[in-house]
Order: sequence, then C-alpha cells, then structure tokens
Amino acid sequence: MAAGDAIHRFPLIKIQGVPLMCHIAHNWDSIWAFRPDPSDLLIATYPKAGTTWTQEIVDLLLNNGDAEVARRAPTSVRIPFLEIHSPPPIPSGLSLLKNMDPPRVIKTHLPFQLVPEGFWKNKCKAIYVARNAKDNLVSYYHFDRMNLTQPEPGPWDGYIHKFMNGELAWGSWYDHVKGYWEEREKRNILYLFYEDMKENPQREVERIMCYLDLSLSDDVISRIVELTSFETMKENPMTNYSFIPKPVFDQSISSFMRKGVVGDWTNHFSPAQKQLFDDDYKRQMKDADIPFRTDI
Ligand code: A3P
Repeated sequence: MAAGDAIHRFPLIKIQGVPLMCHIAHNWDSIWAFRPDPSDLLIATYPKAGTTWTQEIVDLLLNNGDAEVARRAPTSVRIPFLEIHSPPPIPSGLSLLKNMDPPRVIKTHLPFQLVPEGFWKNKCKAIYVARNAKDNLVSYYHFDRMNLTQPEPGPWDGYIHKFMNGELAWGSWYDHVKGYWEEREKRNILYLFYEDMKENPQREVERIMCYLDLSLSDDVISRIVELTSFETMKENPMTNYSFIPKPVFDQSISSFMRKGVVGDWTNHFSPAQKQLFDDDYKRQMKDADIPFRTDI
C-alpha cells in the first residue's frame, strides 16, 4: 500500500472464507509466500486475546528481563505483525521482517489454516493465546470503536451477532481457537489461556520460558512478571500503543490498555444476550473440549 493512502475504516474481503481487512487481502500472495526461518517464533492469537502482553513477556524472556532492551522500540516494531500492510505510521509486517535477521518473533492473527505453511514445514515454535469468548468479544468491541482502520463496530447488540456469525476481521473466534487447539500437539504449539495468565502470571511466564528452552533466575522471572503487569504496560509508551496517532487509534474513545481483567463481560451482556450467546456457544463449540473460563 502506498504511503499516501488515506487512513480510513477498511472494508473486509474474504480469503478462503475468512474476512480480512482489504489491505491484507490485496497483499495476500506475498503474505502466503512468506518463508520463516526455523529459528523464528510465532505468536498467534485471535485479536484482543492478550497478544501484546504475550509479546512483551517473550521479548523480556529473550532478553534476560532487561527492561531497557525491551524499551528499544514499540511492540509492533520489535515483533512485526506478519500480515499487517496498512499505511504508515502502522509498520508493515513484511517490510519490517525483510530487514530483520532471524531469529525473529512474529505476531499473527491469522487462523491456523491461513498461516504460511513454511512455519510448520520449518517446525517453527508457536505460542497461541486464547481468551474466553465473552471477554474477547467485549475487548474487540471497544477496540473496534477506537481503531479507526477497523470496520465500524455499530451498536453493541448487533456486534454480538457479528461475532457469533464470524463476520469480524480475522473471522470466527470459534474456528480460530478450535483450529489451533486441534493442531497443538502435532505442531508443538504452546496453547495458553489469558485467564491462566491473569490467575498466575509467574506460572505462565515460566511455562513460556521452558517452551523457549530458556533458564532464567527466579529474580529475573519476578522482574518480568512485574514489567508485564497490566499497570506497568499501560504506562509504558513502548507497549501502550500511544505511538499510533489519534486518526488511527483514538484512545480518547477507549484505551488500548483498557481494563485487562477477566469477567468484564458481566458489565456488558444483558441476561437475554447472555442466554442467546451461551446457547449459540454450545452449538458452535459442541465438538471442542477447550477448557475456557469466564471467571477466575
Ligand atoms: P481489555 O480490552 O479487556 O482491557 P491484544 O494485545 O491481543 O490486542 O489484547 C488486548 C487486551 O489485552 C486488552 O483487554 C488489554 O487491556 C489486555 N492486556 C494488555 N496487556 C495486558 C496485561 N499486561 N495484563 C492483562 N491484560 C492485558
């Protein structure tokens, strides 16, 4: 996409049935052709499942908990977003990756079947973070209000239906979490839950450390837990997306680091909406035994 292209709410175009922002769909061949190095690490999530949090934990683990090193650049520059291809100032994933030497950490929101095959052929490590559907939906709703490149969210009630119908950018939450769950053992994917990270961040940081074959001292792990707390990351200009200007992320509407809790859905769903959502959830998740929790 050319530097002069205007920022606006991009329409969605389907790739293999998955709605993606048009700039991603238009650039699809280059994204699909991306060839990672076997040493590259993928962090995959459905949008708003705790991606930025996990990116920061991983970057600190790889840098021995050094806060100064982790502050070398904003999250999306340190850990490129593979498929993003919108106009500046949002850095394009593929162009950042072209100028980085492996091993790289790479973020994606693509569902499993759209992740470039090279990741699996090269046996790259991959971390998937999942968040319970209702909190994920609430977070996405507020994000779509403030991210002025995402499609207009419209009213809350209608947004719930868009989520249930898989009409939001990056498609169905249900297919997304199930797709990686089904492949996790075959592909050696570390499958994490946002709720577990909130419940016991130290345990989950250690789990990631082991997966990355690292061994850090207890002091360093404690420091990483502190540096990646919601409160610390909300104040950190390298993690709170304050570098993205207001015409793109209007954080006066809703902060990127909004609440960072489990269970905020109870403040949004009416009893009738909850019933409708839960009935549909049972239908869409009937064959999956993924242990999601909506409170901790
Ligand atoms: P809320 O909107 O519920 O507050 P992503 O990084 O995938 O876009 O996810 C963003 C969500 O993760 C937001 O959720 C954000 O507040 C939350 N988040 C970001 N950093 C966090 C942290 N360190 N601890 C807990 N939640 C965090």
